[in-house]
Amino acid sequence: MNRNNGKTRNRRSWAEPYKIKMVEPIKMTTRPQREKAIADAGFNTFLLSSKDVYIDLLTDSGTNAMSDNQWAGMLLGDEAYAGSRNFDRLQKTITEYYGYEHTIPTHQGRGAEHILSMLTIRKGDSIPGNMYFTTTRMHQELAGGQFVDVIIDEAHDPTSLHPFKGNIDLDKLQSVIDDVGVAHIPYLCMHATVNMAGGQPISMANIRAASKLCHNQDIPVFLDATRAVENAYFIKIREEGFENTSIEDILKAMCSHTDGCTVSGKKDCLVNIGGFLALNDAELADRARNECVIYEGLHTYGGMAGRDMEAMARGIEESVEFNYLHARIGQVVYLGEQLLEAGVPIVEPIGGHGIFVDARRFLPHLTQDQFPAQALAAALYVDSGVRGMERGVVSAGRDPNTGQNRKSRLELVRLTLPRRVYTQAHMDVTAESVIDLFEKRDHIRGLTFSYEPDHLRFFRARFHPIGGDSILADAPVTSVSSTMSDTASV
Ligand code: F0G
Repeated sequence: MNRNNGKTRNRRSWAEPYKIKMVEPIKMTTRPQREKAIADAGFNTFLLSSKDVYIDLLTDSGTNAMSDNQWAGMLLGDEAYAGSRNFDRLQKTITEYYGYEHTIPTHQGRGAEHILSMLTIRKGDSIPGNMYFTTTRMHQELAGGQFVDVIIDEAHDPTSLHPFKGNIDLDKLQSVIDDVGVAHIPYLCMHATVNMAGGQPISMANIRAASKLCHNQDIPVFLDATRAVENAYFIKIREEGFENTSIEDILKAMCSHTDGCTVSGKKDCLVNIGGFLALNDAELADRARNECVIYEGLHTYGGMAGRDMEAMARGIEESVEFNYLHARIGQVVYLGEQLLEAGVPIVEPIGGHGIFVDARRFLPHLTQDQFPAQALAAALYVDSGVRGMERGVVSAGRDPNTGQNRKSRLELVRLTLPRRVYTQAHMDVTAESVIDLFEKRDHIRGLTFSYEPDHLRFFRARFHPIGGDSILADAPVTSVSSTMSDTASV
């Protein structure tokens, strides 16, 4: 296969703009060992021990490989409690690349979400956004607010080829504002890229239009810029007029339409831990520093060590290099194209940080109440030791008002690619396993809860296969009607 990011087949291949200097051995396991490990983990891939995982595609969060330049920076950590020089360097770098004036460092992305939610949301408020993210919505709800989805309809359709499925539907946004009133909308929560839709980007035109619509009505706009650099790559290659603009300039232009951002540094910033809240409003930033001191740490470290902040500053500089991004997203495309060629249903277009397998179409014999994506992730682990993650009805959780499962329209298994970690051969092994499973898909059993936590249940829930003890049955599993899953509403 020619690694050409979906363009003409005859082009020459590219390769990663780095070479491997240090390796971490990984264990090969046998199928009986994996059968036992997944049963011990309650059929939840989050509960597997990493030592039992061969290729870990659970998340791209904090799983990045740092460069020699970043590791060198780790030795320059200024671990002073107050006023670390690495914080100054980080804040300058964030201003240079993202454009915001004030940086409040946090232990990771959800720390920034917590502070922003506490400061801006009052009980009864509504927060419109382009699809929910689990921790973001949780903090909005804990602060008394309610998330309202205003993403375009195409985002909920895994087969739609819209190039910017992360876009905000301006009519939906305006009608939320009309319904609840400006006074009850603390901000627009804009994600770039949209994780739960499959790493789908939002266009510059849409960022501009949605921000203008809000700003005209005095509603602030906060960007979840966790994967905004990857979003900038898509703008460069897909949006007219940006072919010749650098990633750096696109990123800055995206942010310039917004009032601040929350970032999990564990993704685009190429580090293993850390995050930040960045703001333009000096007064809000001051209040945020006060909260930071309570929940994260002093406002010049926010839960990060000095060395972590240095690594993050250097990671931000590396993250905007086009050749790096081309290889990073090219690897995702390489995996996705193999699956598409074999007829495996995945979310298209292929997104930025992973392949999202459509478990509804993969396992039509299971209803959504039998957690098809959870079951598929467990079966994939048993087949090959590849660890993916459920992003469907289990992740969507229960509606806090009704207590009912939120029936997410998307029922996906995410195969997320850590940055600069795996090789093309790892992608081949992964694709072969998914394709083999697809051929015996009717052997995969559904699941039922054996333990369900109150909040963010996907992290710690436990399950049991329906009709047997193992996730892969010896014979095809009897088909059941799936009409229930078609009435989805989230
Ligand atoms: N926003 C987005 C879009 C994210 O994907 C995440 C984390 C966060 C915020 C929260 O950041 O983990 O540093 O507290 N996503 C991880 C994932 C967990 O696997 O997608 P955090």
